[in-house]
Amino acid sequence: MEEPTLRTNVSFEGLTVAAFESRRAAEISTLIACFGGVPQVAPSMREVPLEDNSAALQFGERLLAGLLDMVILMTGAGVTLLMETLESRYTRKDLIAAFSALVVVARGSKTVRALENLGIPIKLKVPEPNTWRELLQSLDGEYGKQGTAGLARLQIALQEYGEPNNRLIGELERRGAKDVLRVPVYSWALPEDTAPLEAVTGEITSGRARVVLFTNAVQVDHLIEFAAQRNARLREALQHCVVCSLGPTCSEAIAAHGLTVDFESESHKMGAFIYEAAGRAPELLKEKDGQRSAGAPITVASPPLPSQDGSKPAYYNSRFMRACRLEPVDATPVWLMRQAGRYMRSYRDLRARVPFLDLCKSPDLAAEVTVSAAEQIGADAAILFADLLLVAEPMGFKLDYNQPSGPWVSPKLQSASAIDALLKTEPAPLALEYIFDAVRLARSNLSAATPLIGFAGAPFTLASYLIEGGPSKSFRHTKALMLRDPGAWHALMDYLARHLAACVNSQIEAGAQAMQIFDSWVGCLAPTDYREFVLPHMQSLFRSLAPSVPIIHFGTGTGALLELMREAGGSMIGLDFRVELDEGWKRLGPTVGAQGNLEPAVLYADLARIRERALRILRQAGGRPGHVFNLGHGVLPETPEQNVSDLIKIVHEESAQLKEERQKG
Ligand code: CP3
Repeated sequence: MEEPTLRTNVSFEGLTVAAFESRRAAEISTLIACFGGVPQVAPSMREVPLEDNSAALQFGERLLAGLLDMVILMTGAGVTLLMETLESRYTRKDLIAAFSALVVVARGSKTVRALENLGIPIKLKVPEPNTWRELLQSLDGEYGKQGTAGLARLQIALQEYGEPNNRLIGELERRGAKDVLRVPVYSWALPEDTAPLEAVTGEITSGRARVVLFTNAVQVDHLIEFAAQRNARLREALQHCVVCSLGPTCSEAIAAHGLTVDFESESHKMGAFIYEAAGRAPELLKEKDGQRSAGAPITVASPPLPSQDGSKPAYYNSRFMRACRLEPVDATPVWLMRQAGRYMRSYRDLRARVPFLDLCKSPDLAAEVTVSAAEQIGADAAILFADLLLVAEPMGFKLDYNQPSGPWVSPKLQSASAIDALLKTEPAPLALEYIFDAVRLARSNLSAATPLIGFAGAPFTLASYLIEGGPSKSFRHTKALMLRDPGAWHALMDYLARHLAACVNSQIEAGAQAMQIFDSWVGCLAPTDYREFVLPHMQSLFRSLAPSVPIIHFGTGTGALLELMREAGGSMIGLDFRVELDEGWKRLGPTVGAQGNLEPAVLYADLARIRERALRILRQAGGRPGHVFNLGHGVLPETPEQNVSDLIKIVHEESAQLKEERQKG
């Protein structure tokens, strides 16, 4: 192969290029960047010496006893490791003498070099590109073709690498070789730190990395396996990418996963491979995208959801949806407010690269966060990743999520004239389309049996952010406006309720199965003020919502307001942790479900405490249909990740167990 002559017009044209080199990660990054790409490189494998080297030692015994005729050595590192192991028993001199009596077949230049360094004579050197096919061709050349039983009387040992190559063994056996002695000397594992791999997988699933380079077969297997374990929708995403492969072995591994190789390099050298890929990728990507204009987001059409009984979609009979309809369930459904958030390492990693608002406004990232959080922790429902304050932006407010105290909104809405001006503002119809796109994408990426919860803030909580300009303890300005200028207040609440209703209905239309209305801060109000200043607007909001989906109505510090909240609306009331679930639900009456209400800080404790507190809530629910387990507020940032998944398992186990006990009497 001639070295490529550099042509300046060969370029990835700024495309993000994913690659999975380990030892040569820095080199491939530099090469991608040199050819105009944005490199995203994550090691996908590391060599692991097998702790149990019994296969190698058994090989040594047979080698020294003169029972072998041929040894096929597949890798240089394998040769070195094999010798190190054997030298724990035999002298190097004896070993070299024994090897010299065999037909030694070496695959690849590194194997040849390792053997030459040891002074072991090589009978057959497999030519490039060193796949098992060339290996067989070399053997056929020497011993006669398939069917001639050319290998019939030979005792062959095969030093393996990674996964055993069953096709090679099968072919050797078809040529008459019996009982090929397999000598695995090392295998591959994922790297110890998989965060970079997770990040690059995210680049692909989010549609940002559209060119993917594989330089060996193990990378392919590891990446697919890694993504499958995390339920990342990698395969679908790879179909939208230009997949480039370095040579036929690598291409075979890609095809074995049902994926298409868009470009296979004619070279076997990394530099030439990157050069060729850069020359082809932009044009191949355009072909792939067909009509789609460059840079346009990948839109995944919502697939029809498979139904279980022919008429109902698969999520219909999920535990969560059944509980929302106050129907009995096999185990209590559970999801957690802020189940996608800073307690999750993958979320923090993503946030280290993407500002919060950009994340919310990238439908594919928001959908990915939504789906992967629910799947990672095993929740019974996913909640859309977005924020309560996003609706304020098209109303003319600026949002700042960079303050440690919480989100800030400007300008503060504190005068009657500012309210008048706001009421005249008609938000642009498409301004929140990214939220609805995220709903569509999340719905199509979620398992059909998992319901997707959309959400919006309630008018009071949203108004409090607009008026205070950020988080507040006293809600001084909000209450002052409400009590001093009821006319302006009611007009504002009416305006917000209308826009929030539109936002909720669009999410339902886009494919959300349930909604939660967060009136997070309404607990700061006295019941009289709730009745006068909030209740009518909540009622009109609930009346405006599409009746087809269950609505969870949640607030914190609402111990004094529960009956009023039920009067306001919602098929389920979300309780915070300051009320006892049994008492709270009793007060709510038989017509609504109850969601909640573990104190989020309990997740800082040990499993015994978590189990005890979860069980307490399940006992309080007492098997009454219509309980959805949740925290009493969102997951706190420093919560140990494992405790969250463990809580979900505990709720499922203990509730199923309690049900069984109740049935036994
Ligand atoms: O997993 C989920 O619950 C879905 C995502 C979600 C977010 N915000 C993401 C988010 C939901 C449902 C919300 C709603 C929301 N936003 C509420 C109601 C829920 C509640 O907590 O009562 C409120 C009051 C807001 C306003 C808001 N946005 C606050 C108070 C904060 C800061 C809180 C914090 O944890 O720092 C935000 C930012 C925000 N919204 C984050 C997340 C994951 C943290 C942003 C980051 O990554 O730094």
